[in-house]
Amino acid sequence: MVYVPKKYELYKPEDVKTEVVETDVLVIGGGFSGCGAAYEAAYWAKLAGLRVVLVEKAAIERSGAVAQGLSAINTYLDLTGRSERQNTVEDYVRYVTLDMMGLAREDLVADYARHVDGTVHLFEKWGLPIWKTPQGKYVREGQWQIMIHGESYKPIIAEAAKMAVGEKNIYERVMIVKLLMDKKDPNRVAGAVGFSVREPKYYIFKAKAVILATGGATLLFRPRSVGEAAGRTWYAIFDTGSGYAMGIWAGAMLTQFEHRFIPFRFKDGYGPVGAWFLFFKCKAKNAYGEEYIVTRKAELEKYKPYGLATPTPTPLRNHQVMLEIMESKHPIYMHTEEAMRELAGGDKKKLKHIYDEAFEDFLDMTISQALLWAAQNIDPQEKPSEAMPAEPYIMGSHSGEAGFWVCGPSDLMPEEYAKFFPLRYNRMTTVKGLFAVGDCAGANPHKFSSGSFTEGRIAGKAAVKYVIEQKPNPEVDMKEAEEFKKKVFQPMVTFMENQKFSTDETVNPNYILPWQGLVRLQKIMDEYAAGIATMYKTNEKLLNRALELLQFLKEDLEKLAARDLHELMRAWELVHRVWSAEAHVRHMLERKETRWPGYYYRTDYPDLNEKDWKCFLCSKYDAKTGKWTFEKVPYIQVVDWKF
Ligand code: FAD
Ligand code: ADX
Repeated sequence: MVYVPKKYELYKPEDVKTEVVETDVLVIGGGFSGCGAAYEAAYWAKLAGLRVVLVEKAAIERSGAVAQGLSAINTYLDLTGRSERQNTVEDYVRYVTLDMMGLAREDLVADYARHVDGTVHLFEKWGLPIWKTPQGKYVREGQWQIMIHGESYKPIIAEAAKMAVGEKNIYERVMIVKLLMDKKDPNRVAGAVGFSVREPKYYIFKAKAVILATGGATLLFRPRSVGEAAGRTWYAIFDTGSGYAMGIWAGAMLTQFEHRFIPFRFKDGYGPVGAWFLFFKCKAKNAYGEEYIVTRKAELEKYKPYGLATPTPTPLRNHQVMLEIMESKHPIYMHTEEAMRELAGGDKKKLKHIYDEAFEDFLDMTISQALLWAAQNIDPQEKPSEAMPAEPYIMGSHSGEAGFWVCGPSDLMPEEYAKFFPLRYNRMTTVKGLFAVGDCAGANPHKFSSGSFTEGRIAGKAAVKYVIEQKPNPEVDMKEAEEFKKKVFQPMVTFMENQKFSTDETVNPNYILPWQGLVRLQKIMDEYAAGIATMYKTNEKLLNRALELLQFLKEDLEKLAARDLHELMRAWELVHRVWSAEAHVRHMLERKETRWPGYYYRTDYPDLNEKDWKCFLCSKYDAKTGKWTFEKVPYIQVVDWKF
């Protein structure tokens, strides 16, 4: 029988049309921070007669980490008394800094914190239902969080951004691959290039200011869910480290890129625990019924002063769980049944109400967890559920602080931080005209949805100010931009040229498919860079080996193949992931201490080292030489908080 290769819609670069879009401000990524940036930039741009364009690889109505919806707004200070509990900015900065084991950019944290309430009030105005007490106050989930009926959270926020920017300025289904730099000044951004994932079209966006809002980096590590559940993770799988990779190539300074977030989650469905711990007062216990936060309290002493903070910092809460697992005292159980019983206090009607709320928590935000309950015959009012620390995620908006070193507000940023910026505009990176927000902005975590949108707004306003004041006129090297089209579509060409070399297109001597590259990356990161395989442990030798293997993988990325536009997107996502992974490994190698036990352990430097490492670790990549350089920046207390 003659072998007939399958037919695909494949495009050679010469068959792909180029569209050039000119704008003043370009926002890359239409998630929470991107929508915030677009919304605010549009307001100021309109006054100045400038254009704002938002480009998103999916459809902003349901893109990013909030695609499924959420059940809480995790950052709401309440400076004006609308909720069950008011807070101060000082108190908030204390909480965030201690949660990061002493390392947060307080100028940035205080800046979004002082504006975040206004954002939440806008959300409510746009139609987001917030839970209310009978007295009309927002219901608190915990000290900083408020409860929402949030299934439609993303469409509500996306609609506001869309209306502000205007449909014609929104480019959806366009994946951005690389930033363009000014022909005259290599440290100034000039735009970005990308391709449509729906039609053969290559985009050149010329822009005076660019805002990176592409979210964090997921699936760099082998997830706990494999085989038939592969791809099920906690954080948004669409956030593939694009902004990190593109900023790294452009020479923007990174910070805290060794940091990661290990979410403790309901096992396999990845259901979040926050509402359960804070709102339902649920207890987690080991397999023998011991409440490990009680039995392992003494362990926290080792990490003074952070170990004594209230609440216990997230990595240390994880650390207590991990010790249980290392001693084989798991499964760990979330005792939902006890929590519901205690909250109801024997009142059947109340129990029914709590039961509904418990389901809504997951149906609003992690539907698969509710499905898993059904599949495993778990009725949460009768049976406990297993919980487990998940694989690592690189991000800067949640309880993780990896990202770019960005400029703070002029009234709060110390000179020691400011000296790195050639121009001082809020949330601008060390590259002129390039801003970073949400997961892309480092050392200022705990923004979550509301804080990310707020940070986007701060950057959106600053970007317009930059365009007005500096009158930048970057020049795009059109020949180079057009030339790059060949590289973008190379995976399709590689497939066309080699498809017939084997009878199974997934096994070919001349190419690898994105999926194959992804699992290879995940294996490297899992086994060498403190993934679940080693219980989050690593050392210098393992990390050096990881770098060696990543180098081989990078060489093979030149041989990526793609069979359609969707797979072409997967190919470029992989490239971005690999670069993000490399930066993470390099940073972990550089920081010689274990600052965040429960996130990762450097077994060769097992202790916290306040003397040498109470500092931010920053790095830069030089695309010309291929070299990375590192620098320590001291932590400075900016806000007057006391332990
Ligand atoms: P995102 O909102 O993820 O946006 C990134 C966008 O960039 C996406 O739309 C993506 O498609 C796009 N993009 C990526 N790469 C490219 C590219 N190359 N080209 C074009 N576009 C690109 N927060 C809360 O306040 N309360 C909660 O209860 C809560 N629960 C959560 C539960 C889950 C399961 C998850 C995943 C997150 C939760 N969060 C919660 C956190 C919150 O969602 C994030 O902090 C926030 O969305 C981060 O915003 P961002 O803009 O950085 O990223
Ligand atoms: S979510 O974003 O996916 O919903 P998660 O459920 O972990 O995250 O947390 C929601 C909020 O509760 C976050 O602000 C988180 O820091 C906080 N949180 C979670 N667990 C605890 C805990 N045990 N103690 C204090 N705060 C917690």
